Amino acid sequence: MFEADVRDVPMQHASMESRANPDTDSTPVWTAADLLLPYLPESVAAARRFVAAKLHEWELDDLVDDAAVIVSELTTNSFKTGCQTRMLVGVRRPTDRIVRILVGDGSRSMPVMIQAGRDATSGRGLAMVHRLTHGRWGVTLLPFGKVVHADLATPAPIPR
Ligand SMILES: Nc1ncnc2c1ncn2[C@@H]1O[C@H](COP(=O)(O)OP(=O)(O)OP(=O)(O)O)[C@@H](O)[C@H]1O
Ligand SMILES: [Mg+2]
Repeated sequence: MFEADVRDVPMQHASMESRANPDTDSTPVWTAADLLLPYLPESVAAARRFVAAKLHEWELDDLVDDAAVIVSELTTNSFKTGCQTRMLVGVRRPTDRIVRILVGDGSRSMPVMIQAGRDATSGRGLAMVHRLTHGRWGVTLLPFGKVVHADLATPAPIPR
């Protein structure tokens, strides 16, 4: 049920979408992709590979390093919820200038960015996401869980 529901979240445009390729005006460019993963440690690397592959496909190689950190932190947080079904990992291009990374899980507990103390050994993941996205991240609470999103800006187009 969670799997079906989380993919229906309207704001997240969970199904595959395409738009016209501005260069050719005919070839569709896929601007969204989703993956459902079990709550297992291996899923963190699988999510990283999935997002990196999409960014390479979209020729956004410069975003791969930051996206890898973000998706690792968010999927690790979801893994720690102890949920049992599947987490959703999504990547979107809501506009030409934004890449949105989504991680949905079946817990309605909300992420809280912590001011980790100097000696703290945890509580830094969301602060990293906050820093890398310049504060452009958030949470959508759902009846059956939530989706955390984080936005990265794409490089400015080179003027011709
Ligand atoms: N997906 C989530 N579901 C429920 N609670 C979350 C989720 N993500 C984060 N949180 C809550 O927000 C807190 C802060 O998350 P954050 O990632 O910054 O730190 P952490 O996971 O505790 O430690 P670290 O990421 O440094 O290993 C977590 O301790 C947890 O209470
Ligand atoms: Mg964390």
